[in-house]
Amino acid sequence: MVHSAMVENPLMLGLPEEKRPEPFAMVIFGAHGDLCKRKLLPAIYALYVQNLLPENFAILGQSRTEKTDQKFRDDMKEAVIKYSEDLEFDQASWDRFAPSLYYRAGDSKNLESYKEMKATLAELEKQHGTMGNHIFYLSTPPSLYMPIITKLAESGLAIARKKNEPAWPRVVVEKPFGHDLASSLELDATLHDVLSEPQIYRIDHYLGKETVQNIMCFRFANSIFEPIWNREFVDHIQITSAETIGVEDRGAYYEEAGALRDMIQNHLMQLVALVAMEPPISLDPEATRDERVKVLNAIRPFSADTIDDFSVRGQYGEGYVLGDKAARYRDEKNVSPESTRETYAALKLYIDNWRWAGVPIYLRSGKRLAKRLTEIAIQFRKPPKMLFKQLGGSIYHNTPASESPNVLVMKIQPDDGISLKFATKQPGPTTQIRSLTMDFRYGTAFGSRTPPAYERLILDALIGDPSLYARSDFYEASWKLYQPLIEHWEKSVPGKSTGKGYLVAHRPFPNYESGSWGPQESDEMLSIEGHTWREL
Ligand SMILES: NC(=O)c1ccc[n+]([C@@H]2O[C@H](COP(=O)([O-])OP(=O)(O)OC[C@H]3O[C@@H](n4cnc5c(N)ncnc54)[C@H](OP(=O)(O)O)[C@@H]3O)[C@@H](O)[C@H]2O)c1
Repeated sequence: MVHSAMVENPLMLGLPEEKRPEPFAMVIFGAHGDLCKRKLLPAIYALYVQNLLPENFAILGQSRTEKTDQKFRDDMKEAVIKYSEDLEFDQASWDRFAPSLYYRAGDSKNLESYKEMKATLAELEKQHGTMGNHIFYLSTPPSLYMPIITKLAESGLAIARKKNEPAWPRVVVEKPFGHDLASSLELDATLHDVLSEPQIYRIDHYLGKETVQNIMCFRFANSIFEPIWNREFVDHIQITSAETIGVEDRGAYYEEAGALRDMIQNHLMQLVALVAMEPPISLDPEATRDERVKVLNAIRPFSADTIDDFSVRGQYGEGYVLGDKAARYRDEKNVSPESTRETYAALKLYIDNWRWAGVPIYLRSGKRLAKRLTEIAIQFRKPPKMLFKQLGGSIYHNTPASESPNVLVMKIQPDDGISLKFATKQPGPTTQIRSLTMDFRYGTAFGSRTPPAYERLILDALIGDPSLYARSDFYEASWKLYQPLIEHWEKSVPGKSTGKGYLVAHRPFPNYESGSWGPQESDEMLSIEGHTWREL
């Protein structure tokens, strides 16, 4: 725990003076909501105590719930104390910060609220010197994104800037960015009617995680990994995002979303892009975003004939998770007892370019699995001659250590870090081979705190650096890829697949026990290629 009055400031490192945020006023739509309490305000306060905010700023919360500025400040203080991950609360800092927080009740669908907002922002400009730099954070239910953008324009609060003009005002759009290809294109078109691309920040909090940012540094700031980062040396890649929790009180949302939309289409695709991209020509935001999008455009589209060989969906039944009894998904609050919504999805992708041709990339994401973790595992090819084949001795897998391949694991959460598995000789008179790992952990390697994702992302939006935000064409490419699968899953009942491939015998839902590692069809999808999921 770091005391917030004297917090060390890793985000400052390497931040040139001209990159400090200008004065600003941030409007948070949905300020009575969960995200504002748990993530946004704790992040903004953490930036403040690290002296990363400019002297002149103001935060204006909006939701329909009536409350005074003072009540909003009290609620946010409680939230900061409760949710600031590693900052000890400091009353004196809070007392300096809190007078910059304001709240106005209003309905985001109502144009009148925007007229009042405009007047309030003009008032804040006078009081706090915010210089008319406005940033609008959309943290409401997604159905309100388009009405808010339209009303911001109608009220004159959002104006599109030309290329050489300062990119204010800005809009930060929370996930989900659309529900399918058509709705994401519509949302994007609405944004572009009102703002230019440099004013638009589509948040994917995975990109704000330290370990995710480190993927590029690891690959392109070292010279020893990149030469083997290709089809010649990599056998396959596995990306896992596993949760132990179920849908909790978000049943209504999850019935609409499911694992594919909630996790894979956005977060996991960002990981695929970072792991597989070519080196950008510079760190210019557009150069790195160009390379990420190219990866998505090179992924082989799903084909109607084999779609069930490349994708598996699952839904959790009853079971035990970490020793506790867990109900099936269909018995969760606000979930249909006949729901066919997937709580687990696994995919096999191929990137059809020179670097990755023929290398399967497996993705899996699910709820109520055996363990909570997110990781990327690069599995390298076996040595060309298995010299120690007869010796055995692995403690990790069924495969003897002498045969078990090198695996480089990038752990995104928890215990963020990197580990490399390799075979080694066990000390003793005989040649016994064991698999061991070399580990690097963020938690212990650096003395400073690891800033939570929202801290970095909000700071970047204030500075005007969109590198760690998704560009319009990223979401378009990702939705284009998944649209056929979304339609296929919508049309076909689990257990009665219309596919023509090997895995047509997908069982009806629920098809995996809570606390397991997902449906057996997922294992079969890999075994067809001679692969197995990592035992985690
Ligand atoms: N929570 C998370 O961890 C998380 C993570 C990633 C992304 N997100 C995304 O972030 C957004 C917000 O999530 P959340 O969990 O904070 O949702 P939430 O708890 O439901 O909060 C949304 C808030 O919006 C306000 N609201 C609803 N209708 C309104 C209207 N017509 N006018 C003005 N305000 C209105 C509501 O407050 P009133 O009832 O007072 O109006 C509500 O508190 C969602 O799009 C979600 O997908 C959330």
